[in-house]
Amino acid sequence: MLLYIILYNVLTVDADTKCISHEITVVPKYYLIEKCHRSKLGVASKANFSTLNSCRRLALEKKALALNFSPSGYGKIGRKPVEYTCEVLKCAESEGGLSLKNDTNYDYYSIYAKHLPNVNSCCVPLAGMFYLLSEKNNYTEAERRCRNMSSVLAGVFNQHRTDTLAQVLASSGVEAAYVGLGSSNGRVFRTTHGDSLDCITYRAWAPGHPRKNLNMSCVVPLLR
Ligand SMILES: *[C@@H]1O[C@H](CO)[C@@H](O)[C@H](O)[C@H]1NC(C)=O
Ligand SMILES: *[C@@H]1O[C@H](CO)[C@@H](O)[C@H](O)[C@H]1NC(C)=O
Ligand SMILES: *[C@@H]1O[C@H](CO)[C@@H](O)[C@H](O)[C@H]1NC(C)=O
Ligand SMILES: *[C@@H]1O[C@H](CO)[C@@H](O)[C@H](O)[C@H]1NC(C)=O
Ligand SMILES: *[C@@H]1O[C@H](CO)[C@@H](O)[C@H](O)[C@H]1NC(C)=O
Repeated sequence: MLLYIILYNVLTVDADTKCISHEITVVPKYYLIEKCHRSKLGVASKANFSTLNSCRRLALEKKALALNFSPSGYGKIGRKPVEYTCEVLKCAESEGGLSLKNDTNYDYYSIYAKHLPNVNSCCVPLAGMFYLLSEKNNYTEAERRCRNMSSVLAGVFNQHRTDTLAQVLASSGVEAAYVGLGSSNGRVFRTTHGDSLDCITYRAWAPGHPRKNLNMSCVVPLLR
């Protein structure tokens, strides 16, 4: 898996050399999405916890994208007790997902605060939900489209994400797509959060890349 810089475009990023995302420790929250619902997506781990916080901690530890939790008091009257009060899930539901069922024993939580749109969504288990937008756009426009879906261009800051994104592209027959790394001058590459690459230890550049002083300033993951 190598990263090639092959597309020309201009991304304007505020000149700031600080490592923003290293200063803010981002901890997913697990938002309540549907009360009295249980997702039947793949379970990464389960446990019998009495508090939602314990279940959230298990979910964090397992890098789960969602969870089902059964608060005490649920399912007591006339129903058999649940086997496990906490189920942490590899994927999150998208809108109209058929695997989200009414279940008075559980509430369904997700790291995504809103229902995910149901277009070409793709779950990379324990990594995230990704969308491949098929229109050809420039980088600025691609960023805007992502914002429109309350998301950002996918970050490629570790091997797992880079490899799985490359597989998503390959299995969709797409040669190249934008990811959340760009440069306004072909020298300093920054993430969507404005971090320079010096803030990220992961590197997967193709030999000779990133090329200096060329009008090429976006990055795409390729399966090679
Ligand atoms: C979990 O707890 C419930 C009620 O507290 C109990 O009925 C159930 O058997 C427990 N499950 C396991 C796997 O121990
Ligand atoms: C599931 O619950 C919703 C309300 O939360 C209700 O509108 C819907 O009819 C229920 N569906 C089934 C299959 O029971
Ligand atoms: C990007 O595309 C949008 C819409 O197609 C266009 O309005 C804009 O000028 C383009 N930006 C650049 C830098 O080419
Ligand atoms: C997203 O784009 C659609 C049209 O493509 C538009 O109707 C909608 O208002 C936009 N939403 C946001 C939050 O910008
Ligand atoms: C880069 O683009 C600018 C203007 O778009 C042009 O003047 C310059 O020659 C280009 N440089 C290279 C190396 O292509």
